[in-house]
Amino acid sequence: MKMILILSAVVAIAIASQQDAWKSRFNSQMVRMNDKVDGIFKKSSSSSSSESIEDKSLINRFKDALNCTIDPPPTLDELYQFYQWVQKYNKSYYTPENRLCRTIHVIRHIRQINAHNVLYEQGLVSYKRGLTDFSDYSSEENYDRLLLKEAPIIEDTLQGSTDLPILPPARDSVDWRNEGLVSPVGSQWKCGSCYAWGGAVALEGQLRKCKISSESVSIQLMVDCPNHGVWGCSSGWPYYVFKWQMSGGILPASKYPYKDTSGKCNYNKSDVIAYVDTPYKFNFTDVGGNATFIKQVVSATGPVSIIICVDKSLFQYKSGVYTTKNCCNTVKHVVGIVGYGTDPKFGDYWIIKNSWGTNWGDKGFAKIARGNNLCITENYVQYASLKDVNGRKCDLMS
Ligand SMILES: *[C@@H]1O[C@H](CO)[C@@H](O)[C@H](O)[C@H]1NC(C)=O
Ligand SMILES: *[C@@H]1O[C@H](CO)[C@@H](O)[C@H](O)[C@H]1NC(C)=O
Ligand SMILES: *[C@@H]1O[C@H](CO)[C@@H](O)[C@H](O)[C@H]1NC(C)=O
Ligand SMILES: *[C@@H]1O[C@H](CO)[C@@H](O)[C@H](O)[C@H]1NC(C)=O
Ligand SMILES: *[C@@H]1O[C@H](CO)[C@@H](O)[C@H](O)[C@H]1NC(C)=O
Repeated sequence: MKMILILSAVVAIAIASQQDAWKSRFNSQMVRMNDKVDGIFKKSSSSSSSESIEDKSLINRFKDALNCTIDPPPTLDELYQFYQWVQKYNKSYYTPENRLCRTIHVIRHIRQINAHNVLYEQGLVSYKRGLTDFSDYSSEENYDRLLLKEAPIIEDTLQGSTDLPILPPARDSVDWRNEGLVSPVGSQWKCGSCYAWGGAVALEGQLRKCKISSESVSIQLMVDCPNHGVWGCSSGWPYYVFKWQMSGGILPASKYPYKDTSGKCNYNKSDVIAYVDTPYKFNFTDVGGNATFIKQVVSATGPVSIIICVDKSLFQYKSGVYTTKNCCNTVKHVVGIVGYGTDPKFGDYWIIKNSWGTNWGDKGFAKIARGNNLCITENYVQYASLKDVNGRKCDLMS
Protein backbone atom coordinates (compact mmCIF):
# COMPACT_ATOMS: atom_id res chain seq x y z
CA MET A 1 0.00 0.00 0.00
CA LYS A 2 2.77 2.38 1.07
CA MET A 3 4.69 1.38 -2.01
CA ILE A 4 1.75 2.29 -4.24
CA LEU A 5 1.39 5.68 -2.56
CA ILE A 6 5.08 6.44 -3.01
CA LEU A 7 4.94 5.29 -6.63
CA SER A 8 1.93 7.43 -7.47
CA ALA A 9 3.57 10.43 -5.78
CA VAL A 10 6.67 9.89 -7.92
CA VAL A 11 4.53 9.62 -11.04
CA ALA A 12 2.61 12.78 -10.12
CA ILE A 13 5.86 14.71 -9.63
CA ALA A 14 7.21 13.38 -12.92
CA ILE A 15 4.08 14.47 -14.79
CA ALA A 16 4.16 17.91 -13.15
CA SER A 17 7.77 18.50 -14.10
CA GLN A 18 7.09 17.27 -17.64
CA GLN A 19 4.36 19.89 -17.93
CA ASP A 20 6.69 22.59 -16.63
CA ALA A 21 9.24 21.46 -19.17
CA TRP A 22 6.82 21.87 -22.09
CA LYS A 23 5.80 25.29 -20.92
CA SER A 24 9.34 26.53 -20.76
CA ARG A 25 10.22 25.01 -24.14
CA PHE A 26 7.09 26.42 -25.72
CA ASN A 27 7.77 29.77 -24.12
CA SER A 28 11.24 29.98 -25.55
CA GLN A 29 9.97 29.05 -29.00
CA MET A 30 7.32 31.71 -28.71
CA VAL A 31 9.95 34.27 -27.78
CA ARG A 32 11.52 33.60 -31.13
CA MET A 33 8.32 34.71 -32.79
CA ASN A 34 9.10 38.28 -31.83
CA ASP A 35 6.28 39.65 -33.90
CA LYS A 36 3.89 41.93 -32.06
CA VAL A 37 0.52 42.33 -33.67
CA ASP A 38 -2.31 44.04 -31.86
CA GLY A 39 -5.95 43.06 -31.74
CA ILE A 40 -5.36 39.54 -32.86
CA PHE A 41 -7.71 37.91 -30.48
CA LYS A 42 -11.03 39.48 -29.75
CA LYS A 43 -10.72 41.79 -26.75
CA SER A 44 -13.86 40.48 -25.08
CA SER A 45 -12.37 37.04 -24.69
CA SER A 46 -10.86 35.92 -21.43
CA SER A 47 -9.33 32.58 -20.65
CA SER A 48 -10.14 30.19 -17.87
CA SER A 49 -9.68 31.62 -14.38
CA SER A 50 -7.95 28.48 -13.15
CA GLU A 51 -4.85 29.41 -15.12
CA SER A 52 -1.95 31.03 -13.30
CA ILE A 53 -0.39 34.39 -14.16
CA GLU A 54 2.42 32.57 -15.97
CA ASP A 55 -0.08 30.44 -17.88
CA LYS A 56 -1.92 33.58 -18.96
CA SER A 57 1.26 35.19 -20.14
CA LEU A 58 2.03 32.08 -22.19
CA ILE A 59 -1.40 32.26 -23.80
CA ASN A 60 -0.95 35.97 -24.43
CA ARG A 61 2.36 35.40 -26.08
CA PHE A 62 0.73 32.83 -28.36
CA LYS A 63 -1.94 35.34 -29.25
CA ASP A 64 0.54 38.07 -29.96
CA ALA A 65 2.59 35.97 -32.26
CA LEU A 66 -0.20 35.20 -34.67
CA ASN A 67 -2.00 37.43 -37.02
CA CYS A 68 -5.27 35.55 -36.79
CA THR A 69 -8.37 35.51 -34.66
CA ILE A 70 -9.90 32.78 -32.62
CA ASP A 71 -12.53 33.30 -30.02
CA PRO A 72 -12.33 32.30 -27.22
CA PRO A 73 -8.52 32.19 -27.14
CA PRO A 74 -6.92 28.81 -26.55
CA THR A 75 -6.84 27.37 -23.07
CA LEU A 76 -3.60 26.08 -21.64
CA ASP A 77 -4.76 22.55 -22.28
CA GLU A 78 -5.46 23.30 -25.94
CA LEU A 79 -2.12 25.05 -26.19
CA TYR A 80 -0.43 21.97 -24.79
CA GLN A 81 -2.12 19.78 -27.39
CA PHE A 82 -1.04 22.25 -30.04
CA TYR A 83 2.50 22.11 -28.68
CA GLN A 84 2.48 18.31 -28.85
CA TRP A 85 1.24 18.48 -32.42
CA VAL A 86 4.02 20.90 -33.38
CA GLN A 87 6.59 18.55 -31.83
CA LYS A 88 5.12 15.42 -33.37
CA TYR A 89 5.05 16.76 -36.91
CA ASN A 90 8.09 19.01 -36.55
CA LYS A 91 6.19 22.01 -37.81
CA SER A 92 8.25 25.14 -37.97
CA TYR A 93 5.85 28.03 -37.69
CA TYR A 94 8.42 29.94 -35.77
CA THR A 95 9.97 31.41 -38.85
CA PRO A 96 8.74 34.83 -40.00
CA GLU A 97 8.06 33.71 -43.56
CA ASN A 98 5.76 30.93 -42.45
CA ARG A 99 3.68 32.76 -39.88
CA LEU A 100 0.28 32.12 -41.35
CA CYS A 101 -3.02 31.55 -39.67
CA ARG A 102 -2.33 27.83 -39.86
CA THR A 103 -1.89 27.43 -36.14
CA ILE A 104 -5.39 28.72 -35.58
CA HIS A 105 -6.75 25.93 -37.72
CA VAL A 106 -5.02 23.45 -35.46
CA ILE A 107 -6.65 24.98 -32.38
CA ARG A 108 -10.04 24.89 -34.13
CA HIS A 109 -9.55 21.24 -35.02
CA ILE A 110 -8.42 20.46 -31.47
CA ARG A 111 -11.71 21.92 -30.20
CA GLN A 112 -13.87 19.94 -32.61
CA ILE A 113 -11.91 16.76 -31.94
CA ASN A 114 -12.05 17.09 -28.15
CA ALA A 115 -15.80 17.74 -28.21
CA HIS A 116 -16.38 14.75 -30.47
CA ASN A 117 -14.14 12.44 -28.47
CA VAL A 118 -16.06 13.15 -25.27
CA LEU A 119 -19.08 11.63 -27.04
CA TYR A 120 -16.92 8.75 -28.22
CA GLU A 121 -15.77 7.98 -24.66
CA GLN A 122 -19.44 7.92 -23.63
CA GLY A 123 -20.19 5.43 -26.40
CA LEU A 124 -22.48 7.89 -28.19
CA VAL A 125 -20.55 8.02 -31.46
CA SER A 126 -18.90 5.14 -33.24
CA TYR A 127 -15.54 6.60 -34.14
CA LYS A 128 -12.78 8.67 -32.63
CA ARG A 129 -11.21 11.78 -34.13
CA GLY A 130 -7.62 12.97 -34.04
CA LEU A 131 -5.16 15.48 -35.44
CA THR A 132 -3.18 14.72 -38.58
CA ASP A 133 -0.18 16.29 -40.21
CA PHE A 134 -2.64 18.34 -42.31
CA SER A 135 -4.64 19.72 -39.37
CA ASP A 136 -3.07 23.12 -40.02
CA TYR A 137 -5.21 23.40 -43.13
CA SER A 138 -8.86 24.35 -42.94
CA SER A 139 -11.45 21.79 -44.03
CA GLU A 140 -12.03 23.89 -47.15
CA GLU A 141 -8.35 23.83 -48.00
CA ASN A 142 -8.20 20.09 -47.43
CA TYR A 143 -11.17 19.74 -49.74
CA ASP A 144 -9.12 21.41 -52.45
CA ARG A 145 -5.93 19.54 -51.67
CA LEU A 146 -6.97 15.98 -50.96
CA LEU A 147 -9.83 15.22 -53.31
CA LEU A 148 -10.53 15.12 -57.02
CA LYS A 149 -10.27 18.68 -58.31
CA GLU A 150 -13.27 18.12 -60.55
CA ALA A 151 -15.77 15.35 -61.19
CA PRO A 152 -14.32 12.78 -63.56
CA ILE A 153 -15.76 13.11 -67.03
CA ILE A 154 -17.88 10.21 -68.19
CA GLU A 155 -16.39 9.20 -71.52
CA ASP A 156 -18.49 6.08 -71.83
CA THR A 157 -20.97 5.23 -69.13
CA LEU A 158 -19.72 2.75 -66.59
CA GLN A 159 -21.69 -0.43 -66.99
CA GLY A 160 -24.73 -0.87 -64.79
CA SER A 161 -25.45 -3.61 -62.32
CA THR A 162 -26.21 -6.23 -64.97
CA ASP A 163 -23.79 -8.93 -66.11
CA LEU A 164 -22.42 -9.53 -62.65
CA PRO A 165 -19.79 -12.26 -62.48
CA ILE A 166 -20.72 -15.47 -60.67
CA LEU A 167 -19.03 -15.35 -57.30
CA PRO A 168 -18.96 -17.75 -54.34
CA PRO A 169 -20.70 -16.66 -51.14
CA ALA A 170 -18.64 -14.13 -49.19
CA ARG A 171 -16.79 -14.93 -45.99
CA ASP A 172 -18.03 -13.17 -42.84
CA SER A 173 -14.91 -11.07 -42.53
CA VAL A 174 -11.76 -10.51 -44.58
CA ASP A 175 -8.63 -8.47 -43.96
CA TRP A 176 -6.24 -8.74 -46.90
CA ARG A 177 -3.59 -6.88 -44.91
CA ASN A 178 -3.12 -10.05 -42.88
CA GLU A 179 -2.60 -12.05 -46.05
CA GLY A 180 0.09 -9.85 -47.52
CA LEU A 181 -1.96 -8.34 -50.35
CA VAL A 182 -1.64 -4.70 -49.24
CA SER A 183 1.35 -2.42 -49.79
CA PRO A 184 2.39 0.38 -47.40
CA VAL A 185 0.17 3.49 -47.26
CA GLY A 186 1.33 6.45 -49.32
CA SER A 187 0.41 10.09 -49.63
CA GLN A 188 -1.03 11.84 -52.68
CA TRP A 189 -0.09 15.25 -51.17
CA LYS A 190 -1.90 17.97 -53.08
CA CYS A 191 -2.28 16.16 -56.42
CA GLY A 192 -5.83 14.96 -57.16
CA SER A 193 -4.44 11.53 -58.02
CA CYS A 194 -6.64 9.50 -55.65
CA TYR A 195 -8.07 7.62 -58.65
CA ALA A 196 -4.57 6.21 -59.28
CA TRP A 197 -3.92 5.45 -55.60
CA GLY A 198 -7.30 3.77 -55.24
CA GLY A 199 -6.75 1.83 -58.46
CA ALA A 200 -3.29 0.79 -57.30
CA VAL A 201 -4.78 -0.90 -54.23
CA ALA A 202 -6.63 -3.30 -56.55
CA LEU A 203 -3.59 -3.83 -58.82
CA GLU A 204 -1.21 -4.46 -55.93
CA GLY A 205 -3.55 -7.08 -54.49
CA GLN A 206 -3.44 -9.02 -57.76
CA LEU A 207 0.32 -8.55 -58.27
CA ARG A 208 0.97 -10.02 -54.85
CA LYS A 209 -1.60 -12.78 -55.14
CA CYS A 210 -0.12 -13.85 -58.47
CA LYS A 211 3.41 -13.60 -57.06
CA ILE A 212 4.44 -11.18 -59.79
CA SER A 213 5.72 -8.47 -57.46
CA SER A 214 5.23 -7.20 -53.94
CA GLU A 215 6.50 -3.71 -54.76
CA SER A 216 4.20 -0.72 -54.68
CA VAL A 217 3.09 0.21 -58.20
CA SER A 218 4.00 3.46 -59.92
CA ILE A 219 1.21 5.96 -59.31
CA GLN A 220 3.01 8.54 -61.43
CA LEU A 221 2.72 6.32 -64.51
CA MET A 222 -1.03 6.06 -63.87
CA VAL A 223 -1.23 9.87 -63.62
CA ASP A 224 0.99 10.80 -66.56
CA CYS A 225 0.24 8.23 -69.22
CA PRO A 226 -3.43 7.33 -69.78
CA ASN A 227 -4.79 9.48 -72.59
CA HIS A 228 -8.49 8.73 -72.21
CA GLY A 229 -10.72 9.50 -69.22
CA VAL A 230 -7.86 10.59 -66.94
CA TRP A 231 -6.65 14.15 -66.29
CA GLY A 232 -3.39 14.14 -64.32
CA CYS A 233 -3.69 15.81 -60.91
CA SER A 234 -7.22 16.91 -61.65
CA SER A 235 -9.47 13.89 -62.04
CA GLY A 236 -9.94 10.37 -63.35
CA TRP A 237 -11.52 6.93 -62.93
CA PRO A 238 -9.40 3.88 -62.04
CA TYR A 239 -11.16 2.03 -64.86
CA TYR A 240 -9.67 4.25 -67.56
CA VAL A 241 -6.22 3.85 -66.04
CA PHE A 242 -6.67 0.06 -66.10
CA LYS A 243 -7.79 0.23 -69.71
CA TRP A 244 -4.61 2.06 -70.67
CA GLN A 245 -2.56 -0.44 -68.66
CA MET A 246 -3.75 -3.29 -70.91
CA SER A 247 -1.11 -2.09 -73.38
CA GLY A 248 0.79 0.51 -71.34
CA GLY A 249 1.60 -1.83 -68.48
CA ILE A 250 2.22 -1.56 -64.75
CA LEU A 251 5.51 -0.27 -63.37
CA PRO A 252 6.99 -0.56 -59.89
CA ALA A 253 7.07 2.78 -58.04
CA SER A 254 10.87 2.67 -57.90
CA LYS A 255 11.09 2.96 -61.71
CA TYR A 256 8.77 5.94 -62.01
CA PRO A 257 8.49 7.64 -58.61
CA TYR A 258 5.68 9.85 -57.39
CA LYS A 259 6.11 13.59 -57.91
CA ASP A 260 2.92 15.23 -56.56
CA THR A 261 2.41 16.88 -59.93
CA SER A 262 1.54 15.58 -63.37
CA GLY A 263 4.15 15.36 -66.07
CA LYS A 264 4.98 14.00 -69.48
CA CYS A 265 4.53 10.25 -69.89
CA ASN A 266 8.10 8.99 -70.09
CA TYR A 267 9.04 5.45 -69.14
CA ASN A 268 11.08 2.50 -70.25
CA LYS A 269 8.92 -0.34 -71.54
CA SER A 270 11.48 -2.83 -70.23
CA ASP A 271 10.52 -1.79 -66.68
CA VAL A 272 6.95 -3.11 -67.09
CA ILE A 273 6.21 -5.94 -64.62
CA ALA A 274 2.65 -6.82 -65.71
CA TYR A 275 -0.30 -5.77 -67.86
CA VAL A 276 -3.97 -5.47 -67.12
CA ASP A 277 -5.78 -8.37 -68.75
CA THR A 278 -9.39 -7.33 -68.08
CA PRO A 279 -10.55 -4.12 -66.38
CA TYR A 280 -13.82 -4.31 -64.43
CA LYS A 281 -16.22 -1.49 -63.59
CA PHE A 282 -19.61 -1.65 -61.96
CA ASN A 283 -22.02 1.20 -61.48
CA PHE A 284 -24.78 0.64 -58.95
CA THR A 285 -26.04 4.21 -58.79
CA ASP A 286 -29.50 3.33 -60.09
CA VAL A 287 -30.09 0.88 -57.22
CA GLY A 288 -28.27 2.82 -54.49
CA GLY A 289 -25.26 0.56 -54.17
CA ASN A 290 -24.72 -3.17 -53.85
CA ALA A 291 -22.86 -4.09 -50.67
CA THR A 292 -23.46 -7.81 -51.25
CA PHE A 293 -21.68 -7.75 -54.56
CA ILE A 294 -18.72 -5.76 -53.25
CA LYS A 295 -18.38 -8.09 -50.29
CA GLN A 296 -18.33 -11.10 -52.61
CA VAL A 297 -15.75 -9.55 -54.93
CA VAL A 298 -13.47 -8.57 -52.06
CA SER A 299 -13.83 -11.99 -50.46
CA ALA A 300 -13.21 -13.95 -53.65
CA THR A 301 -10.68 -11.82 -55.50
CA GLY A 302 -8.93 -9.30 -53.24
CA PRO A 303 -8.84 -5.53 -52.74
CA VAL A 304 -10.92 -3.30 -55.06
CA SER A 305 -11.28 0.42 -55.54
CA ILE A 306 -14.39 2.42 -54.72
CA ILE A 307 -15.61 6.02 -54.82
CA ILE A 308 -16.46 8.05 -51.76
CA CYS A 309 -18.04 11.44 -51.33
CA VAL A 310 -16.20 13.16 -48.51
CA ASP A 311 -17.73 14.98 -45.58
CA LYS A 312 -15.16 17.13 -43.77
CA SER A 313 -15.42 14.99 -40.63
CA LEU A 314 -13.53 12.30 -42.54
CA PHE A 315 -10.38 14.45 -42.42
CA GLN A 316 -10.37 14.02 -38.62
CA TYR A 317 -11.11 10.29 -38.54
CA LYS A 318 -8.80 8.41 -36.18
CA SER A 319 -10.30 5.01 -35.31
CA GLY A 320 -13.57 3.15 -34.82
CA VAL A 321 -16.36 2.75 -37.38
CA TYR A 322 -16.83 5.95 -39.36
CA THR A 323 -20.30 7.17 -40.14
CA THR A 324 -21.80 10.61 -40.76
CA LYS A 325 -25.20 12.18 -41.10
CA ASN A 326 -23.80 14.90 -43.37
CA CYS A 327 -22.76 12.87 -46.31
CA CYS A 328 -22.92 13.81 -49.93
CA ASN A 329 -23.39 11.87 -53.14
CA THR A 330 -20.99 13.22 -55.71
CA VAL A 331 -17.85 11.53 -56.96
CA LYS A 332 -15.16 13.17 -54.81
CA HIS A 333 -12.51 10.67 -53.82
CA VAL A 334 -11.24 7.18 -54.65
CA VAL A 335 -9.94 4.69 -52.10
CA GLY A 336 -9.26 0.96 -51.89
CA ILE A 337 -11.29 -1.58 -49.94
CA VAL A 338 -8.91 -4.10 -48.38
CA GLY A 339 -11.38 -6.01 -46.24
CA TYR A 340 -14.53 -5.90 -44.16
CA GLY A 341 -15.88 -7.10 -40.85
CA THR A 342 -18.37 -6.46 -38.08
CA ASP A 343 -17.86 -4.46 -34.92
CA PRO A 344 -19.74 -5.97 -31.93
CA LYS A 345 -21.16 -2.58 -30.99
CA PHE A 346 -21.17 -0.46 -34.15
CA GLY A 347 -21.96 -3.03 -36.80
CA ASP A 348 -20.69 -3.83 -40.28
CA TYR A 349 -17.76 -1.97 -41.79
CA TRP A 350 -15.44 -1.84 -44.78
CA ILE A 351 -11.70 -1.50 -44.21
CA ILE A 352 -10.49 1.18 -46.56
CA LYS A 353 -6.94 2.13 -47.52
CA ASN A 354 -6.58 5.84 -48.12
CA SER A 355 -3.82 7.95 -49.70
CA TRP A 356 -3.59 10.72 -47.09
CA GLY A 357 -0.44 9.36 -45.44
CA THR A 358 0.00 7.20 -42.35
CA ASN A 359 -0.79 10.01 -39.91
CA TRP A 360 -4.40 10.06 -41.06
CA GLY A 361 -6.82 7.56 -39.52
CA ASP A 362 -5.59 4.24 -38.20
CA LYS A 363 -2.10 4.29 -39.77
CA GLY A 364 -3.68 5.38 -43.06
CA PHE A 365 -6.62 2.94 -42.94
CA ALA A 366 -10.21 3.41 -41.77
CA LYS A 367 -13.29 1.39 -40.96
CA ILE A 368 -16.35 2.81 -42.68
CA ALA A 369 -19.94 1.75 -42.05
CA ARG A 370 -21.00 -0.94 -44.54
CA GLY A 371 -24.36 -1.86 -46.02
CA ASN A 372 -26.06 1.53 -46.27
CA ASN A 373 -24.15 2.97 -49.21
CA LEU A 374 -22.70 5.61 -46.88
CA CYS A 375 -21.32 8.52 -48.93
CA ILE A 376 -21.90 6.46 -52.12
CA THR A 377 -19.19 3.98 -51.10
CA GLU A 378 -21.19 1.15 -52.65
CA ASN A 379 -22.11 2.78 -55.97
CA TYR A 380 -18.95 2.17 -57.99
CA VAL A 381 -16.54 -0.77 -57.92
CA GLN A 382 -13.45 -1.00 -60.09
CA TYR A 383 -10.68 -3.60 -60.27
CA ALA A 384 -8.68 -5.56 -62.83
CA SER A 385 -7.30 -8.97 -63.62
CA LEU A 386 -3.65 -9.09 -64.69
CA LYS A 387 -1.24 -10.98 -66.90
CA ASP A 388 2.52 -11.14 -66.50
CA VAL A 389 5.04 -9.98 -69.11
CA ASN A 390 5.03 -13.45 -70.70
CA GLY A 391 1.28 -13.26 -71.18
CA ARG A 392 0.45 -15.67 -68.35
CA LYS A 393 -3.02 -14.74 -67.14
CA CYS A 394 -3.60 -14.43 -63.46
CA ASP A 395 -6.93 -15.81 -62.30
CA LEU A 396 -8.80 -13.25 -60.18
CA MET A 397 -10.20 -16.01 -58.02
CA SER A 398 -7.02 -18.07 -57.61
C1 LIG B 1 -1.86 40.63 -40.65
O1 LIG B 1 -3.00 40.42 -41.49
C2 LIG B 1 -3.36 41.53 -42.27
C3 LIG B 1 -4.67 41.21 -42.98
O2 LIG B 1 -4.67 39.91 -43.46
C4 LIG B 1 -2.23 41.86 -43.22
O3 LIG B 1 -2.56 42.98 -44.02
C5 LIG B 1 -0.96 42.14 -42.43
O4 LIG B 1 0.11 42.33 -43.30
C6 LIG B 1 -0.65 40.97 -41.50
N1 LIG B 1 0.48 41.31 -40.65
C7 LIG B 1 1.53 40.49 -40.46
C8 LIG B 1 2.59 40.99 -39.56
O5 LIG B 1 1.62 39.39 -41.00
C1 LIG C 1 12.57 19.46 -38.33
O1 LIG C 1 12.45 20.58 -39.20
C2 LIG C 1 13.65 21.31 -39.36
C3 LIG C 1 13.34 22.57 -40.15
O2 LIG C 1 12.45 22.32 -41.20
C4 LIG C 1 14.68 20.41 -40.02
O3 LIG C 1 15.89 21.09 -40.19
C5 LIG C 1 14.90 19.17 -39.14
O4 LIG C 1 15.77 18.27 -39.78
C6 LIG C 1 13.59 18.48 -38.86
N1 LIG C 1 13.78 17.40 -37.89
C7 LIG C 1 13.21 16.20 -38.01
C8 LIG C 1 13.49 15.25 -36.91
O5 LIG C 1 12.52 15.91 -38.96
C1 LIG D 1 -23.97 5.20 -63.59
O1 LIG D 1 -25.29 4.84 -63.94
C2 LIG D 1 -26.20 5.92 -63.92
C3 LIG D 1 -27.61 5.38 -64.12
O2 LIG D 1 -27.64 4.04 -64.45
C4 LIG D 1 -25.80 6.91 -64.97
O3 LIG D 1 -26.69 8.00 -64.98
C5 LIG D 1 -24.40 7.41 -64.68
O4 LIG D 1 -23.94 8.26 -65.69
C6 LIG D 1 -23.44 6.25 -64.55
N1 LIG D 1 -22.16 6.74 -64.07
C7 LIG D 1 -21.04 6.59 -64.80
C8 LIG D 1 -19.81 7.16 -64.20
O5 LIG D 1 -20.97 6.05 -65.85
C1 LIG E 1 15.69 0.67 -70.68
O1 LIG E 1 16.05 -0.40 -69.83
C2 LIG E 1 17.00 -1.27 -70.39
C3 LIG E 1 17.17 -2.44 -69.45
O2 LIG E 1 17.28 -2.03 -68.12
C4 LIG E 1 18.29 -0.51 -70.64
O3 LIG E 1 19.23 -1.37 -71.26
C5 LIG E 1 18.01 0.68 -71.53
O4 LIG E 1 19.17 1.48 -71.68
C6 LIG E 1 16.89 1.53 -70.95
N1 LIG E 1 16.53 2.59 -71.90
C7 LIG E 1 16.36 3.83 -71.54
C8 LIG E 1 15.96 4.79 -72.60
O5 LIG E 1 16.51 4.22 -70.37
C1 LIG F 1 -26.30 -7.32 -55.81
O1 LIG F 1 -25.31 -8.29 -56.05
C2 LIG F 1 -25.73 -9.63 -55.95
C3 LIG F 1 -24.59 -10.54 -56.31
O2 LIG F 1 -23.49 -10.30 -55.52
C4 LIG F 1 -26.87 -9.92 -56.91
O3 LIG F 1 -27.36 -11.20 -56.65
C5 LIG F 1 -27.95 -8.90 -56.74
O4 LIG F 1 -28.88 -9.07 -57.78
C6 LIG F 1 -27.41 -7.49 -56.82
N1 LIG F 1 -28.45 -6.52 -56.58
C7 LIG F 1 -28.66 -5.50 -57.41
C8 LIG F 1 -29.81 -4.64 -57.05
O5 LIG F 1 -27.97 -5.28 -58.38
